[in-house]
Amino acid sequence: MQILDGQFVSQFIKDELKLETAQLVVEGKKVPHLAAVLVGNNGASETYVGAKVKTCTEIGFKSTLIRLEESISEYKLLTIIEQLNNDADVDGILVQLPLPKHISDEKVINAIHPSKDVDGFHPENTGRLVQGLPAFVPATPHGIMLLLEHYKIDTKGMHAVVVGRSNIVGRPMSILLSSNTNPGNCTVTICHSQTKNLNDFCRQGDIIVAALGKPEFVTGDMVKDGAIIIDVGITRVADASRKSGFALKGDVHFAEVAPKSSYITPVPKGVGPMTIAALMKNTFKACLDRNSNS
Ligand code: GUN
Repeated sequence: MQILDGQFVSQFIKDELKLETAQLVVEGKKVPHLAAVLVGNNGASETYVGAKVKTCTEIGFKSTLIRLEESISEYKLLTIIEQLNNDADVDGILVQLPLPKHISDEKVINAIHPSKDVDGFHPENTGRLVQGLPAFVPATPHGIMLLLEHYKIDTKGMHAVVVGRSNIVGRPMSILLSSNTNPGNCTVTICHSQTKNLNDFCRQGDIIVAALGKPEFVTGDMVKDGAIIIDVGITRVADASRKSGFALKGDVHFAEVAPKSSYITPVPKGVGPMTIAALMKNTFKACLDRNSNS
């Protein structure tokens, strides 16, 4: 069993981006600028957005964090996105999800200009991804592909079982793994909350991507020997013994599954850091694309 070390690989990618950004400065070119919008006070969202902004600083990107009250109207939020769309200095825009219930995710995502949609959630980018055209790929599945690539894992012909069908992870993951790329070229099954005999599907997986958000859902008996395990889950579970009051749990029961696997991502320090590295790559690309067009 080998750990897929997202912390290490993400650092490698960030170091590369840092050098490339320094080169932009030497050439007198614009550095990438990410604008992150955080609505309300969700603790997990605060942590994620904080990590994204901090990473921008580490690698020499510019960042703007826009914090908004939970009670902000949908109209006001859409106005702010329009301003960011029209701001020539901003290359990438992300609005951290989930949003408060009175705001439509769909309207907000659709309002972001596709050329600045570094989360890859806009339907134009989703459509381009499905058709195999250049697109911004959602950061979590993009990061997972970069991790498989780094470890030179040849996935051709494998049966990948993706558990979860969200627009953020499961669906784009299934498209990437089935693409004619390396890594890729898998036969993909998507399982979800209505899947019958989910355990049987999981046991057939050469690769399992667990992205359903249920702590320790995938247990040892659901995994075949030698499977590659990608754990996307990161749920805060109450733990009075910790100073923070919670522990982070993946969707995979690590102690049971790790001994049976060939490769496995830990939680934390697996997929999470790769998501941030992939977002930074998307932001860098957005900056280059926009500057080469101006
Ligand atoms: N919420 C959970 N994951 C993500 C993500 O990748 N991007 C944004 N914007 N919100 C999220």
